[in-house]
Amino acid sequence: MLDMNQEPVKKNSSYIQKRITNLEREIEKLKKSKSDEDYFRKRSAETLIQRQQQILSSKNQEFNTVSLWGLYGPDDMKMFKSMTLPVFSSPTGAPFDSLLDGALLLSSQTINDPNKIYSRIDNTTIDHLAMKLAALEGKTIDEETQALCLSSGMSAIFLATMPFLEVGDHILSSNQIYGGSEQLFNITYPKMGWTVDWVHEPWSVEAWQEQIIQKTKLLYVETPSNPNLFIANIPTLAKLAHDYNLPLIVDSSVASPALLRPLEHGADIVIHSISKVMGSSGRAIGGAIIAKKNITTSVPDLREDFVNKVKRSHFRNLGPCLHPPSAAAIWDDLVTLQLKIKAMSDNALQIADFLDKHDKIEKVNYPGLSSHPQHDLAKKLMRFEDDSVGFSHLLSFYILGGYDAAVRFVEVINFGVEVADLGRNYTTICHPASTTHGQMTSEMREKMGVSDNLIRYSVGLEGVNDAIRALSKALSIL
Ligand SMILES: Cc1ncc(COP(=O)(O)O)c(C=O)c1O
Repeated sequence: MLDMNQEPVKKNSSYIQKRITNLEREIEKLKKSKSDEDYFRKRSAETLIQRQQQILSSKNQEFNTVSLWGLYGPDDMKMFKSMTLPVFSSPTGAPFDSLLDGALLLSSQTINDPNKIYSRIDNTTIDHLAMKLAALEGKTIDEETQALCLSSGMSAIFLATMPFLEVGDHILSSNQIYGGSEQLFNITYPKMGWTVDWVHEPWSVEAWQEQIIQKTKLLYVETPSNPNLFIANIPTLAKLAHDYNLPLIVDSSVASPALLRPLEHGADIVIHSISKVMGSSGRAIGGAIIAKKNITTSVPDLREDFVNKVKRSHFRNLGPCLHPPSAAAIWDDLVTLQLKIKAMSDNALQIADFLDKHDKIEKVNYPGLSSHPQHDLAKKLMRFEDDSVGFSHLLSFYILGGYDAAVRFVEVINFGVEVADLGRNYTTICHPASTTHGQMTSEMREKMGVSDNLIRYSVGLEGVNDAIRALSKALSIL
């Protein structure tokens, strides 16, 4: 870590400060003990203090500094003899110091530093990615945040929701979500005895409230949503959820913490597909769950320490671990996160504006346009650290001429790539009704506004004039 000692603590950090004080007290007590068990407990508490101090420092650094360094600083570089974050691909790290050391680690009574258990559970490279993500997502809040990295965004969605659910339980979800998430809730979850209801007017808090039932265990939103850029009112929904003792879970993959930090607005758990803009080079698939301590839930077991609880139980049992080289690739991609999101958002706004004025376009979905129904809300919630607004890299638009015109557009556009992907450094274009949202029923698609003439356009880092010229040319051919 860079030397941050000269920096006074300027953000609210009373929660973490208190935790450090408690850990220091615990260490003082443990020091007096002669038992082997207390020796390992003391070592674990010391590791925890060191992490807490690093988290505290990161709260006082600027976003770009945290996204660059994470918690991998000069001391780690010296220890690992590597300026870049090393890829630890071995299934296990250091051997246990003793049988007792192993027993305490495996029963989660002590924590792991460096990696000693097994890479499915803990891995030094992946831990560094998790710590960076937790620091970025929790930058603006008082509490400590923790992250769990997983093999994909889908496994993050599964493991962020499944721990709350028993047979017969119920999820209430915005209908404005990625097609894969819809399929998970609609096709896979009923097999476990879990049901989902869709809020078809997710902008209306009354619509949410009317659909909460006794068996509801969580509220679920995606914001901005893929592909229609619906913006959820996180503060209002968090309040509603908390009034019913429920957690609000937010898929924030499109915005990334550079633009939106749902925990700051009251959400309990954030999900990311880190395969997208957070891993914009497109070298890896991954997911993350980030939560603060003491979430709101009617499931007592999960309240205090959601991430660690899930990590030590269902995650460990199911095995959806991230591949260490993927973790390193995404860790590297995060280095320039805010710079990329700013450039992509600037480009996207200009492209949205161009399309909005074009006579072959019926409508553009982009929260940066004043015509977007949640434009004011987006301006309030989607802000870079310097308080400037940004609306993400993603937009979608309806082409006049229905399905045929949309398909023709995808065929003739001579810029970017046609793939079922988004958040890349380069522009990607897709026709959701036949790809990402193609497995839904047409009724569900219509209700969520994924019509046959909708095009999803993920803005890249190319020159914006090149992009606009290509769009203009393609539209002129239709
Ligand atoms: C908003 C959103 N959430 C989750 C996912 C799933 O992520 P992954 O592909 O990493 O499993 C996607 C994939 O496109 C997505 O767009």
